[in-house]
Amino acid sequence: MTIADQKQPTAKAPGSKSPRGLIPAHVAIIMDGNGRWAEARQQPRTEGHVAGLENIRRVLRHLENRGVSYATIFAFSTENWTRPQGEVSFLLELLAESLKTEVGDLHENNVRILHQGRLAELPPELSKEIAAAVELTSKNDGITLIVAFNYGGRAEIVDAAKRLIESGVSADKLDEESFAREMSPPGVPDPDLVVRTSGEFRISNFLLWQSAYSEFYSTPAPWPEFDEAEVDKAIEAFSNRKRKFGGILADRPE
Ligand code: IPE
Ligand code: IPE
Ligand code: MG
Repeated sequence: MTIADQKQPTAKAPGSKSPRGLIPAHVAIIMDGNGRWAEARQQPRTEGHVAGLENIRRVLRHLENRGVSYATIFAFSTENWTRPQGEVSFLLELLAESLKTEVGDLHENNVRILHQGRLAELPPELSKEIAAAVELTSKNDGITLIVAFNYGGRAEIVDAAKRLIESGVSADKLDEESFAREMSPPGVPDPDLVVRTSGEFRISNFLLWQSAYSEFYSTPAPWPEFDEAEVDKAIEAFSNRKRKFGGILADRPE
């Protein structure tokens, strides 16, 4: 069983045409606006993070229902360490908690979990738990959930460059493919669609290399309110885009 089966078994092959258009194989989400969502309810920002965590399950299920194969979620950036210590600890604690409570279910639902970001900078217990979740779910062939935690696009590029230098690669052997191999988890394609919630139009250091030709979509909805209908709107917007990758459309007259 996959996580999509819990609702309706309408999964489409990635990249296929659905009745509503073309489905992105990889959707990457900047889950923004938890704090503002809570503040608007006179609640502490931490309540927003709890609601945001809750929302991941429903969005993941719907993405799989719609035929998406990879979902990357931006959960904690390398710059988020600058937040008040209490909020940072809360976010680390929330991840630790959810690894304990959610991973079993995700595994049962055939979700493959991957991590993207600097694992070594996280508390050792937490990085061990993340590695265990990745290992446990490594053979699953449902949707792949890539959790970007302690992730920064610039840090990732610098780390890739360091590893390449350490491997002794010569400058003339270095190309975009060898560079790309050092970055995203192996086998994960570049995102087709990058979604940002809560009305911002900035990338905030997310997937800088991988999003070179991603379609960008921003919605005013704060992350805790980004529901199935919002997912559908984002996919609909994607299906109406004309991707050209620097070329010209094949059916276009000269
Ligand atoms: C996104 O919500 C979650 C994280 C960055 C961890 P925010 O916490 O950024 O919420 P706003 O943007 O302050 O409303
Ligand atoms: C991006 O959101 C990081 C995550 C969603 C984890 P931020 O809230 O940190 O980004 P800025 O500060 O608005 O650019
Ligand atoms: Mg924010």
